[in-house]
Amino acid sequence: MANALQDIDDGEAVRVSPITRLRGELRLPGDKSISHRAAILAALANDESVIENFSSAADCSATLACLRALGVDIDRDGSTVRIKGVGSSGLREPSQTLSADNSGTTMRLLAGVLAGLPFTTTITGDESLLRRPMRRVAEPLRLMGAEIELQSNGCAPMRVTGRQPLRAIEYKTPIASAQIKSAVLLAGLAANGTTRLQEPQPTRDHTERLLREFGVPVETNGNAVSLEGGSSLQGRSLLIPGDFSSAAFFIAAAISLPGSDLLIRDVGLNPTRTGFLATLQAIGAEIEILDQRTQSGEPVGSIRVRGLTSPKRDRIEIFGQGVADAIDELPLVAFLAASIGCEMELREAEELRVKETDRIAATVTNLTSMGAVIEEREDGWLLRRGGRLQGAQLSSFNDHRIAMCCAVAALSADGPSTIEDARACVRVSLPEFWQMLVSVSE
Ligand code: S3P
Repeated sequence: MANALQDIDDGEAVRVSPITRLRGELRLPGDKSISHRAAILAALANDESVIENFSSAADCSATLACLRALGVDIDRDGSTVRIKGVGSSGLREPSQTLSADNSGTTMRLLAGVLAGLPFTTTITGDESLLRRPMRRVAEPLRLMGAEIELQSNGCAPMRVTGRQPLRAIEYKTPIASAQIKSAVLLAGLAANGTTRLQEPQPTRDHTERLLREFGVPVETNGNAVSLEGGSSLQGRSLLIPGDFSSAAFFIAAAISLPGSDLLIRDVGLNPTRTGFLATLQAIGAEIEILDQRTQSGEPVGSIRVRGLTSPKRDRIEIFGQGVADAIDELPLVAFLAASIGCEMELREAEELRVKETDRIAATVTNLTSMGAVIEEREDGWLLRRGGRLQGAQLSSFNDHRIAMCCAVAALSADGPSTIEDARACVRVSLPEFWQMLVSVSE
């Protein structure tokens, strides 16, 4: 079949027509979450680090730009990034306000670093980031002794006045969030004593793994994690695994189109990220993991996925730990479930309301436009089993992941769809998305 994507004009809308199947091989740019952390830890290290397969996401470029503004010498050549570490207290007061653009990870993790430095920094972001909650990181960092000023609604711009040294704390966070955990651990590096954090469910552990790679001992015990302040970090050579959350869109598209056969090479398979695969395997999807190994402290492998003719189970239920293990893939599970005729119930996922957009509302609105029957709940949704989705007028709500979810569902719909505000917003995590999709579409 001809190209799945047709530009309607030079604007932001993308028209996606149904295709027959996906076939071929893909290799994804480096994981976004790991790239942010690798850049930050390399900046705090005592010597140079070389990071290969660094993410192409705009979010990670925002982190590099902030680190440069804090005085770090960074040389980027395609996906290879060389960072001359300045040591744990070598960052310099920036001459202007920093911008995290659309990136919550940049803002929250840097807040943790800035909390332990003896100067004041203001961090701002785009319209979406300025609507996202920041008290969740401000609270523990204030307890550690930093001064954090937010707007009266608890959002950024955030003004951080650090303190040296910080006080080590034992903190129990009410929200399962790797960004909160990472901000506290990064601040803990500059604290006197042992910083300990407990979360309601374990979240992605990239910060812990990378800290160990840089030579900092980190202890984990169930939901709790701790480290000693004052360790110095040693520069490293790192190879970042392909981004599992980006791979997930292609995996979902392949499953929804019988006859598909797709090989995705060298993807991160950290178990705190791959809840999506477990869900797919439970409904009978054919997924093979090949060439498993550990690379720069992270599990990596290749994923071979084939189209699914009929699901073995037609109900998917996600809550509790399942939410943390697939936090960025939850909307995608709903779009896929609707495409292959499964019911899906999501609970305890109110965090989706404070992502780049309200992803509960965005998922329900778009799937309803495609003819699905889906009930919106405060903490999730209930999608009823239904027939084939119809092509429709959809909206990304300027959220990269929602744009890609809509594209995936449109590939197997009955008729073409138009996705508003979709072309450029994928740059936030995967600028190559449209081109990669065309390369494996038949
Ligand atoms: C991220 C953690 C998650 C995730 C986000 C990236 C990270 O956010 O949704 O895309 O890199 O730490 P929360 O910590 O808010 O759950």
